[in-house]
Amino acid sequence: MKKFEKRIKIAIDSPAAAGAGTVAKKISKYFNLFYLDTGKIYRYLAFLKMNYPKKFGYTFITKKINNIKLKDLNKKVLSNDDIGILASYVAKDNKIRKLVHNFQIKCAYKFPRKYNGSCLDGRDITYKIVPDANFKFFITANVKTRALRRYKELIKLGKKISYQEILNSIKKRDKNDYNRRISPLKKTKDSILINTTNLTKSACFLKIKKIIEKKIKINGNI
Ligand code: C5P
Repeated sequence: MKKFEKRIKIAIDSPAAAGAGTVAKKISKYFNLFYLDTGKIYRYLAFLKMNYPKKFGYTFITKKINNIKLKDLNKKVLSNDDIGILASYVAKDNKIRKLVHNFQIKCAYKFPRKYNGSCLDGRDITYKIVPDANFKFFITANVKTRALRRYKELIKLGKKISYQEILNSIKKRDKNDYNRRISPLKKTKDSILINTTNLTKSACFLKIKKIIEKKIKINGNI
């Protein structure tokens, strides 16, 4: 990897199940970037709220975020649909968001030295967490396609849930994420729109990789 690529910062926003996580992981691996799925943090907090309802306050949350480990974010239970919905309610709390923001900003700007940059995906990454990113993408797909993809994913993981339940929960989350007052999901003017409705995972990866490589080639230095 050449020197100029050391400064790559990628910011991705997307609604639930649009394929952003999958492509962000692939792109991060390809360009050797530190990757953070920021939704996992809100999901982890939702998990804590569910399991420790009495302790769940700002002091408890601060302690947990300060001591967060990768294994906390990789818990299988975090992919559950009820956790996703609860996360979208937890994520409306401005004080909680501020605590989470500090952690995300550290990941985006102070990643371990072995990486060439960082890649974060979420809902407010392009305009709040990494507003100076070299690359900004808004990744979306039509709601039925997203629901079907999430349904297949969860069935593969052995979860018992129907397509209709998934569709309803994605619609509920879209409503929460697009319409909330604080840090709503939106496409910024400087984000490139990627619609994955008719794209395979690998076509989506190639499209984004091409955009990044083209800009690196033109600018020589980002
Ligand atoms: O990305 P994922 O679907 O796992 O995120 C779960 C929930 O966390 C979202 O529905 C959203 O409400 C919240 N979230 C957020 N800001 C982010 C990432 C996720 O509000 N940057």
